[in-house]
Amino acid sequence: MQNVKEYIAQHKDRFLQELIELLKIPSISADSAFSQDVLDTAEAVKKALEKAGCDLVEIHETDGYPIVYGEKILNTNLPTVLVYGHYDVQPPDPMDLWNSPPFEPVIKKTELHPEGAIFARGACDDKGQMYMHVKALEFMVKTDQLPCNVKFMIEGEEEVGSNNLSTYVSQNKEKLKNDIILISDTGMIANDVPSITTGLRGLSYVEVEVTGPNRDLHSGLYGGAVANPINILAKMIASLHDGNNHITIPGFYDKVQELSDEERAEMAKAPFSLEVYQKALDIDSVYGEKGYTTNERNSIRPTLDVNGIWGGYIGEGAKTVIASKAYAKISMRLVPNQDWREITELFKRHFESIAPKGVKVKVKPHHGGQGYVTPIDTDGYQAASKAYETTFGKKPIPQRSGGSIPIVSLFEKELDSKTILMGFGLDSDAIHSPNEHFGVWNYLKGIETIPYFYEYFTEMKKSS
Ligand code: BES
Ligand code: MN
Ligand code: MN
Repeated sequence: MQNVKEYIAQHKDRFLQELIELLKIPSISADSAFSQDVLDTAEAVKKALEKAGCDLVEIHETDGYPIVYGEKILNTNLPTVLVYGHYDVQPPDPMDLWNSPPFEPVIKKTELHPEGAIFARGACDDKGQMYMHVKALEFMVKTDQLPCNVKFMIEGEEEVGSNNLSTYVSQNKEKLKNDIILISDTGMIANDVPSITTGLRGLSYVEVEVTGPNRDLHSGLYGGAVANPINILAKMIASLHDGNNHITIPGFYDKVQELSDEERAEMAKAPFSLEVYQKALDIDSVYGEKGYTTNERNSIRPTLDVNGIWGGYIGEGAKTVIASKAYAKISMRLVPNQDWREITELFKRHFESIAPKGVKVKVKPHHGGQGYVTPIDTDGYQAASKAYETTFGKKPIPQRSGGSIPIVSLFEKELDSKTILMGFGLDSDAIHSPNEHFGVWNYLKGIETIPYFYEYFTEMKKSS
């Protein structure tokens, strides 16, 4: 690959400025107050793809936010890379915890990012990482080094469950036909410890409602004599884990794929410092399922977590009241072979069954998706590994992630192709949290690494 470093050095300021402009648009898919901004972002992505060298770019309407499709087809005999990413972002709240406004990007140095990091909602997840692919394409097209065909599919509903993407994918199988799917929407271990994500967890997300008496009651007149929905909900939630932090839902672990001792030993080789981990989070100890390490707990093991819980009086001062209702939002991260619909059903049945007399329980499923694991003995993985080796000077470590991109398993099913997860973010980049950021070094390293993937993948495909 000729002069990719040089090209980046020459255009670095513009690459940063373009990303900053994109980050200024608050494309919050969860909040309808921002719907025009989400649509504007789709337009901005379309323009960016056109400028970078796509021959065809279309905005495909859906029942929700549009999908931006772009392509540059050199020759149908050449392999095709399909790039997926998302232009929507998570809501920024709580706002008061941001050190600078979430949609006014600034570059600041941090301990882990001595060359600076861009602070803004979506900087890492996923506008920054998606835009690396746009700039990598620009480089390959402008310097006449694009070795194969490329297609882009950038959606605007990833953060709310990708509800309309599955329909689009199943209706456009021919258009989306490819040899490999490439996604940068995950992370790596550290800037000097490159890694490639080889697995994602599945997800089942539910909301529960516990109803006691038909109205809020005086906690003196009625307290002790009727079921308090908040007390009951807390008790029910607490019972979902046992003393070893195993999940107690019957059947929950039945299909969980267990790793062999060799696989676990391989995993344990990835550099990890418990001390640094605890210090970064200001905790004096980690916590989790007995018999597993921290890295196993957050990747190859399923979990159940309350994401939010509410009910009763939370205003200033005290109000003596027994609320009529209590609520919680609960997510379960799933691992290969667990089916999210089945798990949702198991949860519902169990949660309803443990409700004591005196309350009514409702379980409302939200969204979900299957997990994913990818083998490493494929052309796709090997090409990615070689690309990292070229630009990082080190072989990347394969690593399963705890996060979810539910659409990936669907791609495999519908389009019959594997996904390579080339993430360049760090866990400490605070995605979904206040002060999300993305290292300038990481952004540019991504742009540098991606073209090598294209080159090596095309070579491997031609010779196989
Ligand atoms: N990019 C993340 C997922 C991710 C981040 C995977 C880091 C691995 C490492 C994605 O945008 C995301 O937030 N996914 C959601 C699920 C979705 C259904 C809302 C998640 O994992 O909570
Ligand atoms: Mn993402
Ligand atoms: Mn996300």
